[in-house]
Amino acid sequence: MTDLSTLEQTILGQIAGAGDETALEAVRVAALGKKGSISALLAMLGKMSPEERKTQGAAINLAKDRVTQALAARREILKSAALDARLATETIDVTLPVREAPAEAGRIHPLSQVFEEVNTIFADMGFSIAEGPDIETDDYNFTRLNFPEGHPAREMHDTFFFPAKQDGSRMLLRTHTSPVQVRTMLAEKPPIRVICPGRTYRIDSDATHTPQFHQVEGLVIDKGSHLGHLKWILHEFCKAFFEVDHINMRFRPSFFPFTEPSLEADIQCRRDKGEIRFGEGEDWLEILGCGMVHPNVLRACGIDPDLYQGFAWGMGIDRIAMLKYGMHDLRQMFEGDVRWLSHYGFKPLDVPTLAGGLSS
Ligand code: DAH
Repeated sequence: MTDLSTLEQTILGQIAGAGDETALEAVRVAALGKKGSISALLAMLGKMSPEERKTQGAAINLAKDRVTQALAARREILKSAALDARLATETIDVTLPVREAPAEAGRIHPLSQVFEEVNTIFADMGFSIAEGPDIETDDYNFTRLNFPEGHPAREMHDTFFFPAKQDGSRMLLRTHTSPVQVRTMLAEKPPIRVICPGRTYRIDSDATHTPQFHQVEGLVIDKGSHLGHLKWILHEFCKAFFEVDHINMRFRPSFFPFTEPSLEADIQCRRDKGEIRFGEGEDWLEILGCGMVHPNVLRACGIDPDLYQGFAWGMGIDRIAMLKYGMHDLRQMFEGDVRWLSHYGFKPLDVPTLAGGLSS
C-alpha cells in the first residue's frame, strides 16, 4: 500500500469514527484545511517533474475527491441523527391539559377588583376620580368637615395620631376618605363630580374591622344638586354593583357633622343559610352614609353655600366586597394567603366593564 492510500484509509477511518459534526469538521480541517495532510501533498506537486505530477496529481486528487465525498456523506448521516435526537427531546404531548399562561396565573385581589368595579360604574355616570394622601392634617380630616374641636364625633373615629409637632398640631392617618372632598373643593370650581377611593385607618380590629380598611367617597356640587339626584345615583350604583335588575333601598335619618340632613342607606336582601341575596327578601343591610353637604363645610372649602349646594356619600369598600363575594372574615383580606387568593381572586385579564359584566 502506498503512503497515499494509507493516508486515505486513515482519514476515511477518522471520518467513519467522527461522532458529531464538530468532530467531523476537525477531521476535514486536518485533511483538507490549509495545513491539512492532503493539502500538503497537493502543495508538493509544484516541485515535481511533469510526469510525476501527472500520475501523482491524478492520484492525490482522486483521494481528495473520495475524502470529500466521504465527508459529505458522513455529515448527512450526523445531521439527520442530530435532528432525530432533537425531535426526540422536543416531543409535544398534545393530550396534556393546557397550562395557564404566566399572565393568567396570578390573581387580582378582591379589593382591587371591587375598586375597579366601583370606578367603572361611577366613571360611566361621568364622575372623575380624586385622590388624597393617607397622612392628613387634623384640619382636613376633621375641622373643615365641621367637626368642632372637642366634638364627641372626633372621639368616635378612633384616630391614629402622629406625635405632636412643635406648634402643637398633630398629623394623623385619615379616618375616612372625606378629607379628599375638602381637597377637591379647595382645588376645583363647581360643578364638581368626583369619587374618592382609598385607604383609611382606625384603631379597631375584629372579624368585620381592620385597622386599615378602604372607602369610596362621592361628592357632587352644583347649583341645583338635591337629594333626588343622590338617591338616583346610589340606586343605579347598587343595581350595577350587585348585578341585579331591581333593588329596593331604604334611607334612614342619621347624623354626620359634614352633612345636613344626613342619611344612612340600606339595601334589600334575603339571608338564606349563610348566603345573602340582593334585590329580594325582607331583610335590610346598611351599606353607606350620605347627605347634603353642610353649609359650614362648603364655606370652609371656599364655596358659597348661597350659590351652590351638593351631596356626598361614603361607603366601605371592604364591606361591599364581603357582601358581594360572600367573604366572612375581613382580616383574611390582608393575610396574603395564596389559597384564599386563588379562591376569591379574579383573573388578571378579566377586566370589569359594564358592557362585558363586572364580575364575570
Ligand atoms: N365619612 C363617613 C365615615 O367614615 C362616611 C360618610 C358619611 C361620608 C356620609 C360622606 C357622607 O361623605 O356624606 O363614617
